[in-house]
Amino acid sequence: MAPLVWLVTGCSSGFGREFVHEILKRGDKAIATARRPESLEDLKKTGAAVLQLDVTWDQNRINETINNAIAIYGHLDVLVNNAAYVLGGAWEDLSYQDFHDAFETNVFGPLKVTKAVLPHMRARKTGTNIFISSISGWNGIGFDAGYSGTKFAIEGMAESLDDEARPLGLRTLIVDPGYFRTDLLSQGKLKTTVSSIPEYAEASKAFNQALAGINHKQAGDPKKGVAVVVDLVRQEGVASGREMPLRIALGQDAYEVIKNKCSETIKLLEDWKDVISSTDLD
Ligand SMILES: NC(=O)c1ccc[n+]([C@@H]2O[C@H](COP(=O)([O-])OP(=O)(O)OC[C@H]3O[C@@H](n4cnc5c(N)ncnc54)[C@H](OP(=O)(O)O)[C@@H]3O)[C@@H](O)[C@H]2O)c1
Repeated sequence: MAPLVWLVTGCSSGFGREFVHEILKRGDKAIATARRPESLEDLKKTGAAVLQLDVTWDQNRINETINNAIAIYGHLDVLVNNAAYVLGGAWEDLSYQDFHDAFETNVFGPLKVTKAVLPHMRARKTGTNIFISSISGWNGIGFDAGYSGTKFAIEGMAESLDDEARPLGLRTLIVDPGYFRTDLLSQGKLKTTVSSIPEYAEASKAFNQALAGINHKQAGDPKKGVAVVVDLVRQEGVASGREMPLRIALGQDAYEVIKNKCSETIKLLEDWKDVISSTDLD
């Protein structure tokens, strides 16, 4: 198999960084990107090509950056839309701008970067677009709307992309990790607020304490998680002889959360089937 050329967003830490190490380990080419180029110095030393890319840049600047990326190895096979951050807080405490900023990074970022690579992949009739979503893209919990909303959006957008681009030879993969030990919930990365509204104060405090308690104690190993994703793309290891699915959950917690959501949804449909089925025109 010829080496694949990958571009990964958000490589300053966490999954992004692990992707680059795993990609290079498999003999593929990695283009590591981050909004702070200085955070990529050590990845450059391990053999990755590096580029500055802030996913909140405008479409023209992102197109230019992706064209520069494609020029490095002459083509691009795999895009990993990885960059994102967690916005916590009650609906009433977060401003429209807070929500807007989270969508700008977590949704419109992947949208713009993917739009920049699609013409290239369409012309080559091959390519894989990966979207790192979350269990928060399946299940909304209190004080998580600013993050969960973005991941639900990505789920639907990526699923639609798969339906329209699969006939052209392009693959889409949505990755739904549970809790993995990265910097996602660390001070400086996590954006969250304790409610100033008395009715929410206690629950909001408990939410923030829970996140702080989980930080750097998550069960998920990012190295193992990215190895599964690289296996799926390369159809080797755990994925040898198997077609790449549209979605893959990662982690036992993700399995439970998504299974419960599906079971609850099926129960809801069955409990209300008579009503649900009653609204067609006579
Ligand atoms: N870890 C988990 O438990 C978990 C669970 C489910 C889903 N995920 C998803 O996994 C992905 C990676 O997160 P992680 O866990 O590896 O956390 P992380 O260590 O915080 O990594 C997030 C990365 O996104 C980058 N980023 C943020 N805003 C950006 C922007 N505007 N432009 C470019 N890069 C930007 C960060 O760069 P800076 O250093 O510049 O901020 C950082 O490199 C995210 O999509 C996250 O939602 C993680």
